[in-house]
Amino acid sequence: MTPTTYSTILTAALCAATLGFVGAAQADDDENTMTLSEQYADDLRQGRLHVEGDHAAVTELILKKNLPIPYSYVAQLMATPNAFGSGPACIVCHASSDPNKSYRGLDLSTCDGIKAGSTQSPARVLFVPGEDPKREIIGRHLRNNRMPFGVSFSVSKDQPEIQAIEAWISGGAVNDDHFQKNILPLFNTDNVFAEDMPACSTCHMSNQEPPSFHELDLTSYDGIMLGADSVAHGVDHATKVIIPGQPELSGVFQHLTEDRMPPGIDPTEDRDHPNTQILFAWIKQGAQCR
Ligand code: HEC
Ligand code: HEC
Repeated sequence: MTPTTYSTILTAALCAATLGFVGAAQADDDENTMTLSEQYADDLRQGRLHVEGDHAAVTELILKKNLPIPYSYVAQLMATPNAFGSGPACIVCHASSDPNKSYRGLDLSTCDGIKAGSTQSPARVLFVPGEDPKREIIGRHLRNNRMPFGVSFSVSKDQPEIQAIEAWISGGAVNDDHFQKNILPLFNTDNVFAEDMPACSTCHMSNQEPPSFHELDLTSYDGIMLGADSVAHGVDHATKVIIPGQPELSGVFQHLTEDRMPPGIDPTEDRDHPNTQILFAWIKQGAQCR
């Protein structure tokens, strides 16, 4: 190829690329035909991409591009210490479906085991393949800190105070004398759920954040029933933390009884760890075992 024809072809290619971005529809077509590396180079050139740190790299280069996550990476995450924040690897405690050998009979050491979930009663799956697992069992155990914030995982969950809240939710979560006398004070008194633990209302006292975490107000019946983030998301889209009749679906009960994994992880550790995001992407893509 002579230098002339080469530069002619190059110019033509550049013109086509430039023209391609004149109309939005045209740009979409180009996105589809460009390889990932070409898109990457193009995004950098156009100033559309800013990648600083591993969070941004994961978000911009993996999640937004919906790269298929291989199961082999998930297998490795389950077997690696500190994969989702400091602590031992998941499979140290969850590597068999036999409840005498693995907590909850949960086997995270195989793809089938991950999809089968906990085999001990109540047996249950941890997520639905293809759906966002953030509020499912796997998402809650990787992201949510047990409340009161900072409570040790060694504090028992079979305590009368938690059972009283569970029974109140099961009974329809009504605002009666029993609620006002026996339930509401549980949220507003120090040291109820463990020694040296501030009252829930120390951190959840109004619909303003700061100072109230997640704009959650646990000081009144109306506040508790309104739920979290009612200002940020609007009253109609607040996150309900009480589902009358269904404690296991109620955020308050979940947060009182579910420990973040691995046990003992510092509650201030990043709840959106890049590896947590990658595991979630694998699940959203259908949790393929290949
Ligand atoms: C040191 C041991 C240990 C490690 C390490 C560990 N877990 Fe757990 N896991 C437990 C215990 C104990 C429970 C609670 C058992 C109970 O409540 O009866 C549990 C419960 C769970 C549950 C709830 C299952 C259900 O049906 O209720 C999930 C999900 C879970 N772990 C996932 C993980 C993941 C993911 C990792 C790795 C980040 C991990 N665990 C690391 C000990 C561990
Ligand atoms: C020391 C402060 C503190 C205390 C005390 C506290 N929380 Fe929290 N709470 C937080 C923080 C911080 C979060 C943010 C999420 C996380 O870390 O899991 C949170 C989140 C929550 C959520 C999730 C809201 C949502 O967006 O879905 C619920 C429910 C909750 N807390 C209930 C309680 C209950 C019930 C108590 C008392 C048993 C309590 N909290 C005590 C700090 C606190």
